[in-house]
Amino acid sequence: MRILLTGKNGQLGRCFQDVLKNTSHELFAYGSAELNIADASAVAAVFQQVKPDIVVNAAAYTAVDKAETDSENAYLVNAKGPELLARQAANLAIPFIHVSTDYVFDGAAAEPYVPTDSTNPQGVYGASKLAGEINIAAACEKYIILRTAWVFSEYGNNFVKTMVRLAKERDALSVVADQYGCPTYAGDLAQAILEICEQHEQNKPLVWGLYHYCGDMPTSWHGFARAIFAKSYELGVISSCPQLTAISSDQYPTPAKRPEYSVMKDENLSLLGITPSDWFAGLSSILNRI
Ligand SMILES: NC(=O)c1ccc[n+]([C@@H]2O[C@H](COP(=O)([O-])OP(=O)(O)OC[C@H]3O[C@@H](n4cnc5c(N)ncnc54)[C@H](OP(=O)(O)O)[C@@H]3O)[C@@H](O)[C@H]2O)c1
Repeated sequence: MRILLTGKNGQLGRCFQDVLKNTSHELFAYGSAELNIADASAVAAVFQQVKPDIVVNAAAYTAVDKAETDSENAYLVNAKGPELLARQAANLAIPFIHVSTDYVFDGAAAEPYVPTDSTNPQGVYGASKLAGEINIAAACEKYIILRTAWVFSEYGNNFVKTMVRLAKERDALSVVADQYGCPTYAGDLAQAILEICEQHEQNKPLVWGLYHYCGDMPTSWHGFARAIFAKSYELGVISSCPQLTAISSDQYPTPAKRPEYSVMKDENLSLLGITPSDWFAGLSSILNRI
């Protein structure tokens, strides 16, 4: 199968290349320097050249706080780019796999969000990702959007790597304890996307649409940090666990407002033949490699 991957240098992009290593699929992978997904003619040229069987978009504008003052670029990458990719996929009648975010929700819920719940993004990043979802649905039929959350991996910058670094530098740390979500290992997300691609290759019917794909155990940033420290200490990655203080979001102001509660679930994942991310296993597997 000829797979076109955008965003090859990001966390998901790199994990996706890893999961493809032991397969016979032909990968055509692009970073932003080779393909700006918001450039219509560049996107068209790549589709013409590659003639993919399926497209995986791992490219995104993910700087949540910066997006507040850089909304034009956030919308170009998160809304226009996915639309251009989706249109090209529709022209070839091939599937388009895309990734969105829990930040499309306002976080006022008291129980896990399902894909049919109302959206109400609190910041530019979430709004631009939601615009991307809407544009894709209007541009093509054969799409799968996986909304994910709190992504970490052995690559790039993420909460796990920051916590491990800080644990080596400091004796005490304060972490927000009133925002709840579902950590997701990018390697699990990459594997899930590969499984979707392979089901398509095997002509198994895929139910197109919007899904939630994230970790199976909700926690707070504080709870996540505690798990990272405990596992890092157990594996000898850090020599001691810093003293961890729970603080409120008010005590850690950020330019972009985050949802208080963005826990997601999706009972329809089985329609795609995939299961949620076991983030704790993912955490254990990457700690020795970061
Ligand atoms: N990270 C999270 O916590 C999180 C949470 C929820 C949802 N998500 C979603 O999950 C997906 C994967 O996220 P991630 O953490 O893997 O992201 P990431 O590590 O920030 O990688 C994003 C990649 O997008 C590429 N990119 C940016 N602008 C581009 C453009 N104009 N054209 C082409 N490529 C461009 C960058 O490429 P270069 O490096 O080549 O410049 C970058 O490597 C995204 O859709 C994101 O919105 C992430």
